[in-house]
Formats: sequence, structure tokens, C-alpha cells
Amino acid sequence: MSGHSVPANAGVWQGAGRRIHLQEVGTRDGLQAESAFVPTADKVALVDALSDAGLAKIEVTAFVSPKAIPALRDAEQVLREIRRAPGVVYSALVPNVRGAERAIESCADELNLVMSASESHNLANLRMLREQSFRALAEVAAVTRGTGVEVNVSLSCAFGCPMEGDVPVQTVLQWCERYVQELGARGVTLCDTTGMAYPTQVAELTAAFRARWPGTELTLHFHNTRGMGLANVLAAIDAGADRFDASFGGIGGCPYAPGASGNVCTEEIAHALTLMGYDTGIDLVRLVAAAGRLPALIGHDIPSQIVKAGRRLDLHPRPAEFESIRQRALEREA
Ligand code: COA
Ligand code: ZN
Repeated sequence: MSGHSVPANAGVWQGAGRRIHLQEVGTRDGLQAESAFVPTADKVALVDALSDAGLAKIEVTAFVSPKAIPALRDAEQVLREIRRAPGVVYSALVPNVRGAERAIESCADELNLVMSASESHNLANLRMLREQSFRALAEVAAVTRGTGVEVNVSLSCAFGCPMEGDVPVQTVLQWCERYVQELGARGVTLCDTTGMAYPTQVAELTAAFRARWPGTELTLHFHNTRGMGLANVLAAIDAGADRFDASFGGIGGCPYAPGASGNVCTEEIAHALTLMGYDTGIDLVRLVAAAGRLPALIGHDIPSQIVKAGRRLDLHPRPAEFESIRQRALEREA
């Protein structure tokens, strides 16, 4: 099984080799939601396996309060012990200056700053008003200046809030404007924290962002909570997006967002996009092997349909009695 094999008819109608960057968030967004503490050595091995699988960026961990997210209390050690593959960006989520200092000290390539488009979710998740969060983000951005470490801002609930409902497009774009103009962020991630996004909405927001900030890295971060994850990815690609967060095994979910569940599954997205002729750079065999290690580590089954069903052309043997079935059918023909 070659991980890079592309079907003969791939790209005939769609991808035509267009590069789509898949960014792994399973070791952060995924493991933060787990009650089991995955041992540090296993986390390091998972990140190394993900590097080998060809991910463009890996959000390795989060430098948050160990009381808030005990599952990631070993952030320093993980980031220090992973093997850095050339070309892969190793990022970490940070909520404040304290987190930024820890992450820079541990040689993160990029800091992923987070706040929410909705006041309620911002308060629930970060215990601050959005304006207070923005000021905290500005302090973090100031700390990174001159260090060579890049800043990305993730805007949670950009497609709706589980407590407030719809978030106006203008609200989302106004926050993006401030990240680009005032913080000098290299990238912005629009997060669908609880799977409220739907394809036409995604296309509208993606096109609006792309038109205003063509030079800013745009990432879409979907959760598959209502089964719309892959449809949203495809809608975003058609509207000009080329970067997606996803989580191997389909694990994940914000512990401070009611009803949250898994991210879109990296191997499902890579599998579908490869069939459609997009270049994801992913070695599916290696990625599926990495995801296959998760159930034993987190103590439960994972949502990944590819781990369950295999790839489209991973064929099954014919039934044992196949020859006699065929003989009987041929005899009826005679
Ligand atoms: N790293 C380590 N410890 C930190 C920290 C960081 N980046 N930020 C705060 N802390 C510690 C403080 O030292 C303090 O510890 P203490 O109780 O032993 O004194 C404790 O956390 C509370 O700090 P405080 O400044 O009062 O912040 P808070 O209680 O308002 O919490 C957050 C704010 C955002 C730092 C905290 O809630 C958090 O880390 N949340 C995680 C959010 C998250 O990851 N959500 C999912 C992803 S979107
Ligand atoms: Zn998420």
C-alpha cells in the first residue's frame, strides 16, 4: 500500500494537484478533551509519527493552566522531546503571556492565540470579556516580537455559539481585522468550535476573508459534531481556502463548550481530498497507523471512519464459498 498513491482518474474534475495544507491538532484539541492522561513518551511518539505522516503543521500541545487542562500539563517536555522534521511548523496554543513565555522557552515555531467571537463562550472558556482577551493577545504578540516566533489567532465560535446562537459575519470580520492590523498576526483560524457551521455559511465567510486579507494565512477549523465537517471543508476549498485543522482519529472538543465533540478527522479529509486530486502531502498509511494507536492510549473507541472501514480501495477477499457459488451460477447459464 503506497500512502501517496493517487487514483488514475484523480483530478479530472476537481483538485488537479492543488496543494491543501492539513494541520494536525489531535495532540492539543484532541487530548485536552480526554480524561485519561496520555504518558509523555507516548505523546512524543504520536507527534513524531504525525511528522512522518506529512502534516504541514502540528499543534503539539497547549501552555495553559495545568489546573484547567491537566491532560496537557507536560507541555514543556513534549515540545522539547519531539523530533523536528524539516518544513513542519510546530505550534502550541497559549492563552496569556505566561503561556507564551513557556512556549517560546520550549522553542515553539508558532503560538496559537485563542479568543472567542462570542462573549459568552469567551467568558466560559477564558474567564474574560472579549476586549480583555484582545488586550491579553496584544501583550502576547508584543512578547513574541523579535523572537522569530510567529503568531496565529484562533477565533472560536466564528460560525455560531452554543450559548448565544448565530454570530454576525461582521463581528467575525471585525475581530479578524484587529488581529491582522493591530497584532500583525501571520494567520487567523476561523473555528467552528461546536459543529454549527454549514457549507453555504462557510463559503461566504471564507470568500469574505480571502477578499480582504489575501496575504494572511487563513485556516478553517471544523468539528464534525453534526456531520457537516467534510462538506464544510469542500465548500471552503471552493471559496479559496487551502488550510485546515483536523484531528487524527477524529478526537477532540473544547471542554468549556457545551455539546462539543471531535474535530474533522485528518485521515478522512486526507482520504477524500486525495481521491479528488488534491495534493495534501499526507502518507495515509502512516497517518492511519498513528490514529490506530489512540484507542489503547485514551481508553475508548475513536470516530475515524477510515480506521474502521479502511481506504476506498482496501479490498476484501471474496467469500470462502465463492468458487462454488460461481460454478453453480455458470451451470445455470449452460
Ligand atoms: N501556564 C501555567 N499556569 C497558568 C497559566 C499558564 N499559561 N495561566 C495561568 N496559570 C495558572 C496561574 O498561575 C494560577 O495558578 P494558581 O491557582 O496555582 O495560582 C491559575 O492558573 C489561575 O490563573 P489566573 O491568572 O487567575 O487565570 P484564570 O483562573 O482566570 O484562568 C486561563 C485563565 C485562561 C489561564 C485558564 O483558565 C486556562 O488555562 N484555561 C484553558 C483554556 C483552554 O485551553 N481551553 C480549551 C482550548 S480553547
Ligand atoms: Zn477545536
